[in-house]
Amino acid sequence: MTARRRLLSTSLTAGESQDLRVVGGHGAWFRLADGREVIDASNTAAPLGHCHPEVMEAIRRAATAPVLNEGWQWAERDEAAEDLVGIAFAGEDWVGAVRFFISASEANDAALALCQALTGRAPLATRERAYHGGAGLARELTVQPQWHGGLSSAKGVAAPPRLATVHELPAPRGARVTGQADPTAGQRWTAGARAQLADSAAVLLDYSQGGIYHSAQYQDQVAALARETGAYWIADETVTGFGRVGGWFQFQHSQSRPDFVTLGKCMSAGGAPAGAVVLSEAVLDRLSGTSWQSYSTYRAHPIAMATVRAHLHVSSRDRIYERALGLDGYMFRKLSEVATQHPSVARVDGRGLHWTVELHGPDWRGWRGEEAEPLASRVVARALEAGALIATSGEQTSLFLAPPLVISETELDQVFDALHHGLTAADQEYGAGVH
Ligand SMILES: Cc1ncc(COP(=O)(O)O)c(C=O)c1O
Repeated sequence: MTARRRLLSTSLTAGESQDLRVVGGHGAWFRLADGREVIDASNTAAPLGHCHPEVMEAIRRAATAPVLNEGWQWAERDEAAEDLVGIAFAGEDWVGAVRFFISASEANDAALALCQALTGRAPLATRERAYHGGAGLARELTVQPQWHGGLSSAKGVAAPPRLATVHELPAPRGARVTGQADPTAGQRWTAGARAQLADSAAVLLDYSQGGIYHSAQYQDQVAALARETGAYWIADETVTGFGRVGGWFQFQHSQSRPDFVTLGKCMSAGGAPAGAVVLSEAVLDRLSGTSWQSYSTYRAHPIAMATVRAHLHVSSRDRIYERALGLDGYMFRKLSEVATQHPSVARVDGRGLHWTVELHGPDWRGWRGEEAEPLASRVVARALEAGALIATSGEQTSLFLAPPLVISETELDQVFDALHHGLTAADQEYGAGVH
């Protein structure tokens, strides 16, 4: 009888490639249990790569801290908030204060609940194909049907009841590389969006999930509609913050400024779980004389605070937050080759060091996580043979590239060799008329 595995988990990438065992890492590389070293090409939690010496040193130092809950004062918590605002948000005068959380999911949930309390409205808004996390209201604004905490099987998905009414704004689905038109160019979509926001406590926008990379104009239009209708605008920079797209944040590439920014994932450079809500001065004024009633034991853990500060200092000193912008042209060229050489590729979009490659195949709206090894996972398994770990976004036909920001061009060349190799699997099926 085979032994029962005690660990339960869900992988973004279903099938064989999820079975790989990682035993170590350095820079942009993972070391696997079978002795291979492969490039980690899709890990938005590792902007400085693996085992950065200054992040490891910060963890060692913070290991001497006593056991503290969120309510206790600890000097490095204040310093981390000061550093976050002073370094990453330098020049953003509208920023008022920071509250730390354990994850981006938790930060999104708490920010959304606060907006409901401030506006007295219950419905919430996001855009099509958004992903905002797996807990509470963040999970409700994760619109992909397979991520609602239910059970998927060959028969479909058993989903729990929804916690909130969610409005989905049209997404800016244009594509830089493959040239699909953007349905939100122009004004026609704004009348419907205005009606949706007039009913909503907040609109939560991220800038990469589902392969959607917002135009500057889209952000400004949503921001103006939110102001006009009294909804708060929360910029979810969980993926795009700290230099993933070049510059500290994606929202800075447009004119408008949000009421809140939520953060997580890469904030502590992988050193410890951490998330944050950054509030504007105007929101802070609204909170004056009240207390934001929310609490959790491990928020702002000393190890998280030390690693957030280490990340901020390394990134600003070594100008890592700027690197992705410098590599944007290289990535665009390489992905244009991918799009022209592989008939199985339907759409390619992205910026900086975050890119999505969508394959021809079934529409994402029908996917419930039921297939054991969908097409994108088969491509990932094939790419791994050539030495790079590329991820799927948990959809059937969507791959994304988001390597550490410290990756070299030579290492990126190896990632593209692996991607070409992986896509031959999809091309064969496409050529055979499977999709
Ligand atoms: C845009 C965005 N927001 C929030 C989250 C949730 O982050 P976490 O799972 O770390 O809570 C994610 C995770 O991928 C994300 O991509």
